[in-house]
Amino acid sequence: MDFNAPAGDNLFDRATVVGKSTPRIDGPLKTTGTAPYAYERHEVASNAAYGWIVGSAIAKGRISAMNVEDARRAPGVIAVLAAPEMEPIGSSNWNYAPLFGGREVAHYHQAVACVVAETFEQARAAAALIRTDYERTSGEFDLAAVAPDAPLAGSQGGAEGGAGDPRTRRGDFESAFASAPVTVDQTYHTPDESHAMMEPHATIAAWEGDQLTLWTSNQMIQWAKTGMGQILGISPENIRVDSPYIGGGFGGKLFIRADAVVAALASRAAKRPVKIALQRPLMFNNTTHRHATIQRIRLGAERDGRITAIAHENWSGNITGTGGEDGTLQTPKLYTAPNRMTANYVAQLDLPEGNAMRAPGEAPGHMALEVAMDELAEALGMDPVELRLRNEPEGRVPGDPDTLISDRHLARCLREGAERFGWSARSPTPGAVREGRWLIGMGVAGGYRAAPARQSAAFVRLGADGRLVVETDMTDIGTGSYTIIAQTAAETMGVPLDRVTVELGDSRYPVSAGSGGQWGAASSTAGVYAACVNLRRAIGEKLGFDGDAATFADGSIRAGGRSFALTDAGRVSADGEMTYGDFKRDYDVGTYAGHFCEVAVDAYTGETYIRRMLAVCDAGRILNPLSARSQVIGAMVMAAGAALTEELAVDTRFGYFVNHDLAGYEVPVHADIPHQEVVFLDTLDPIISPMKAKGVGELGICGPAAAVANAIYNATGVRIREYPLTLDKYL
Ligand code: MOS
Repeated sequence: MDFNAPAGDNLFDRATVVGKSTPRIDGPLKTTGTAPYAYERHEVASNAAYGWIVGSAIAKGRISAMNVEDARRAPGVIAVLAAPEMEPIGSSNWNYAPLFGGREVAHYHQAVACVVAETFEQARAAAALIRTDYERTSGEFDLAAVAPDAPLAGSQGGAEGGAGDPRTRRGDFESAFASAPVTVDQTYHTPDESHAMMEPHATIAAWEGDQLTLWTSNQMIQWAKTGMGQILGISPENIRVDSPYIGGGFGGKLFIRADAVVAALASRAAKRPVKIALQRPLMFNNTTHRHATIQRIRLGAERDGRITAIAHENWSGNITGTGGEDGTLQTPKLYTAPNRMTANYVAQLDLPEGNAMRAPGEAPGHMALEVAMDELAEALGMDPVELRLRNEPEGRVPGDPDTLISDRHLARCLREGAERFGWSARSPTPGAVREGRWLIGMGVAGGYRAAPARQSAAFVRLGADGRLVVETDMTDIGTGSYTIIAQTAAETMGVPLDRVTVELGDSRYPVSAGSGGQWGAASSTAGVYAACVNLRRAIGEKLGFDGDAATFADGSIRAGGRSFALTDAGRVSADGEMTYGDFKRDYDVGTYAGHFCEVAVDAYTGETYIRRMLAVCDAGRILNPLSARSQVIGAMVMAAGAALTEELAVDTRFGYFVNHDLAGYEVPVHADIPHQEVVFLDTLDPIISPMKAKGVGELGICGPAAAVANAIYNATGVRIREYPLTLDKYL
């Protein structure tokens, strides 16, 4: 192992602070509304003017005329930015769709104008005076219509076997499938989905000379800084991004969007700070969403349940014909089979930009694969838990036997889950269990979510009063970063939790992994650990001992035969960074779960109620069981929404998401989810980092939707393969 922090010891295996359920440090601030969201940072810019963004009324075409004169003359108006009067702004590494400027319209609700005024109401009223004429052109809005041509039309397309062929093969899928005694060949549809986070995209922008500051709501501070620099054509050195509290992200805030770009331009034009929040109705079409998918899965098995052939093909579409929602990601990782084929086809669509949303690819991928597994179990006459256990790999990735698995306990998740859930009471016969008007069913799904780690740095400062301050540009998107970082510093330095202050989200702090891809917890705490190890050494140098060999506990230090109070060190500080060596490339580091669900379906109306959900998770060391559980239950709720209610309805004539508000986009409420349980296995991942911890924020959405679907089938005997599973589909 060549982690650049020593540690070598297994400090965390003896931990008393790390691994303990700890209420979130920022919890009281969030729940009392005193943790300001980006739009509420009055203290940073009390003279900020208000910006209001106007979104395009067409999905594709050109602005032929825009009259902004009335808006410019309206009361309180300071500046009006009209896209046709400006050059199209550039793109960044993280944006597919254009964000502002020029006459071309690439998607519905693309920002086309912004009014800046003294008050919010004046900006909104003036925006209503802008008159825009468009020349509409036709576009591609219907995934089902273009999907069949996607392999050729998409950028990844190519003739079979030729350059750019998106198919990945191992063995001979076609022959194995043709000769398999038991087969499943089904196609599943998942819809476009919205993040629907509580805090909308919002930014206050201010210039001082050529220095730009963005107080915004963002998951990845460094990406925001770099992306903004690319888009505005200025040096990232001249940009500061600050995002200490975030009201949810889910991938929609991995990168800057129109609020930040337009606020920066508007602030330059208005010569004072400008604040912009995207109106809720703009959120759904102006920002990013999870792409719809069409997934065909073919499984072939021997009668004993051993899978011999797996093919998983996935179609999605995006505005540039690249990216896409790759539902096949988990398929090489989950179950053994010697003959395999996976393919991800991306078509060009003129809908708003699809991009990362919580477990991109894997979340909808499980909604197909784990239902196909249920269908195979039924075709075999085998219990679906047993079918999965029979296809467990040994030590190597099923679809890539050159790659070792760092640590995997999916079988334990399924066995313990079945035991705890009372799985043995499930009737294998669909539609057989009835309580009055309710049909009762149980479903299971396996879950896999990759557990990447990213380089992460931090700065730690010990004050003369014995208090520690940790600074890193890591973000807390509601996940508990403040708390696990404080726990890590407290544990490593041997001080109580309340002596640690954590400062996050400011690009002036060392560059962290940021919050995304469920890499945040593992990576950022490892970076803080690295900084603390360096601080121990610095203290040792000052007081004359070997910081690596000393014991830091209860505010004191024991080194050799001597002992010190931590305060003997006076003021000391250190930087540290966790980087990752080449050894990790030999390993697949993933998280695993067994998901269980019980539903009741009204036999007359088809209304579905989730009664119980259980997740048994294998994610290495759990740094804070309380906040980790919150991550998993939140993801399970999101999965329940994906299974039963959530869908961006596409108007395939005019090319936009029709239900673009929180009334029309239905997310689950408390009453929809009466009982959830989460169990974490006591596993440790030896590869990911010295923390031996993996993320859980996306694992929780990989599988439960399929468990809901399988439970509905078990309850009713009706198999719906088109999400969301609304009652009209099975009456
Ligand atoms: Mo995640 S979809 O990388 O926030």
